[in-house]
Order: sequence, then C-alpha cells, then structure tokens
Amino acid sequence: MKRKTIEASPNALSTVQHILTEQNGDRIMDEMYKFIELEHLYESAIKEVKTKLEILDSEFRAKYSYNPIHHIEDRLKSPQSIFGKLQRKGVPFSAQSAKENLQDIAGVRVICNYIEDIYSVAELLISQDDVNLVTRKDYIENPKPNGYRSLHLVVETPVYLSDKKELVNVEVQIRTIAMDFWASLEHELKYKSDTEVSSELAVQLKECAETIAATDSKMQQIYKALKEID
Ligand code: GTP
Ligand code: MG
Repeated sequence: MKRKTIEASPNALSTVQHILTEQNGDRIMDEMYKFIELEHLYESAIKEVKTKLEILDSEFRAKYSYNPIHHIEDRLKSPQSIFGKLQRKGVPFSAQSAKENLQDIAGVRVICNYIEDIYSVAELLISQDDVNLVTRKDYIENPKPNGYRSLHLVVETPVYLSDKKELVNVEVQIRTIAMDFWASLEHELKYKSDTEVSSELAVQLKECAETIAATDSKMQQIYKALKEID
C-alpha cells in the first residue's frame, strides 16, 4: 500500500503554528524565513537555467530554422517533499540541511525532439562559463532496469542576490518527447496506483520502453535523411 498524503486544513495549520510559536517562536520564525529564502533562491536558479536553455533554442531557430527543444517544464520541490526526503535520508530538517543534502530542490525538464538534440543541448549548457557540471547520469546509454531513459545532469549555477552570489544546484532531466510520454505513464502507474505494478505489467512497460527507443532512433534517421535531401 502506498501512503496517502494528508492535507492539513488551514485551521489545523494555524493551530499548530500558534502552539509552536508560543513554545519556540523565534527559532521557528527564523527557520521559516530561511525556507522562504531557500524557495526564492532555487526558484531564481530555475529561471537562470531555463533562460540559458531558451536562448540556446532560439539561437538554433535563428541560425538553422530548427528548434532542438520541444518544450521545458520546471518544478520547485515542495517543503513537504523536502521534509519527506530529508527524513528518508536520516538528516535534520532545516533549510541548510536541504541545501547540503538535496540536489533536486530545483528541477528543470527539457523535452527534445530527437535523441541527438539531448546531447547537443547538454553539451552547450555545460560548456557555459558559469555552469558547473556536478553529476551526469546517462540513462539513455544505460537505461534503468525498468526501461527508464533520460539524461540527468545536476548543474551548479550562480544566482546574484542583493548582498551575495550563491551557487545553486539544479537537476536537469533531458529526454525526447517519446521518452517523456513513457516516463509520465510509468510515473502515474507507480505513484498513483495503490497496489504495486504487477510483474506482468512491468514486463509490458519495459517492452513499451524498448519499442519507444527503437522508434526514437528510426525517427532520428528519417530526420537526418530528410535534411540531406533538403
Ligand atoms: P531520487 O532520490 O528519486 O531523486 O533518485 P536519485 O537521486 O537516484 O536520482 P535519479 O537521477 O535516479 O532520479 C531522479 C529523478 O528522475 C526522479 O525523481 C524522477 O523524476 C526521475 N526518474 C528516475 N527514475 C525514474 C523511473 O524509473 N521512472 C520515472 N517515471 N521517472 C524516473
Ligand atoms: Mg528526485
């Protein structure tokens, strides 16, 4: 059974807040402000990375009349998910601990048309002076056992604030439209269903991932052949 998320009512929240504030007001308020700052910082890092990617895409449009990026999505990890992940890792729950222990507070997902676009976009992004590559996991070369494919990068980029510069980690997942289609359905099945995905379904899902991978390479070849005719 998957654990269900409990949504606290605004009333319950304010009661808890009231009790906590009476007990340990200053410390809690201080930590709350740090979380607000954390959200702002990671939201800004998302904007920085998205802008870099959009500029690369529009440059390709201008130069070659071609867009390597189909679209970009982003998400900021919610305090609830941050809390859950820190708890699973057995580390303290604080803004500082989140910064030190989590690499996916800021997430950017880049959906490309073709497989080669994924590697071009990744290369162009990490070759920029103010982008440092922290980790790179190529689940296209080495798909996960369930069939999942994507290129995952964690990049570090500066965010300029009024009084300082902060280096912030952003997780960038780059995949084709077809890989994204598969991942969304697999995620839906895994996280939204109350029961474990049966082994029979898991085998079928993996087969779909392989069919999709074969289609992706075929589409890439067709695209290249068309470009040569042009
Ligand atoms: P997390 O603790 O989940 O962040 O895993 P990790 O630190 O080992 O990172 P990894 O790069 O393997 O995966 C990070 C993210 O990639 C996940 O949060 C998902 O968004 C996505 N992802 C990874 N594996 C799968 C998968 O099998 N299916 C789907 N749908 N998404 C996946
Ligand atoms: Mg994650």
